[in-house]
Amino acid sequence: MKDQILSCLSPAYPWREHLHFFPTIDSTNDHIRTLAKAGAPHGTVVIADHQTGGHGRRGRSFHSPEGVGVYLSILLRPQCIPTELMHLTCATAVAMCRALEASAGFRPGIKWTNDLVSGKRKLGGILTELGFTPQGKLDYAIIGVGINCRQTMGDFPEDIRDMAGSLAMIAGHDIDRARVAAAMMDALHRMDSRLLTEKAAILAQYKADCITLNRDVVLVRGDEKRYGHAIDVDAEGALVVRFADGSIEAVNSGEISVRGMYGYV
Ligand code: BTN
Repeated sequence: MKDQILSCLSPAYPWREHLHFFPTIDSTNDHIRTLAKAGAPHGTVVIADHQTGGHGRRGRSFHSPEGVGVYLSILLRPQCIPTELMHLTCATAVAMCRALEASAGFRPGIKWTNDLVSGKRKLGGILTELGFTPQGKLDYAIIGVGINCRQTMGDFPEDIRDMAGSLAMIAGHDIDRARVAAAMMDALHRMDSRLLTEKAAILAQYKADCITLNRDVVLVRGDEKRYGHAIDVDAEGALVVRFADGSIEAVNSGEISVRGMYGYV
């Protein structure tokens, strides 16, 4: 698989020697964090064929069976302060839309902030985290992306079968995972080179791809549910919601559900 991925990369890709491939691993994000703390360079990538402990936001597990998905993490060491990276997940989502369009033949949508979707089905997700030096300076950023590539509906566990999908299910043909992985790496490299200089263009594209915009949403925080309408994504990547009482807030945390998706009717 590693050789196949390398052979699919564009000639301009600069970080070939920093690709680590594992048939099985607990979590590519957890492993790359260990590499980051040991001094691994900007552009290090970890890809696995199978994760035994793949995880997403809020400690949820990310189902990562062998041979059907791409489970990838990249280590970046951006030269900036952490607040300049508020749009990192949005920038990654846009990069992944480009990568999947190039490698699977269709462009997915983004469910704010970090789900890649097609129709009502989640095709993959993004998990970003920042690491700091003992002096409190930004040390590294880790971006993990999991993409369901070759699953059929019956391959998904029953509890997510109605809302999960794969590239193959949507494209209607088999998917070459090495090609998808290489397209993701190329897109992440391009994203890195424009991350701090083209923020406005990145967020404009994010808004164009974001299916949450102009939809009814519900914000769930603990036991509280607030109904509203998503009206914008701001310059930091926060979702701007007009709530039923007329108040308008930029939402950064909490869980946003979109009416018509993932069981919210
Ligand atoms: C989410 O859906 O909330 C995000 C899922 C992110 C999953 C990817 S798979 C590669 C990397 N390793 C992990 O353990 N998580 C991310």
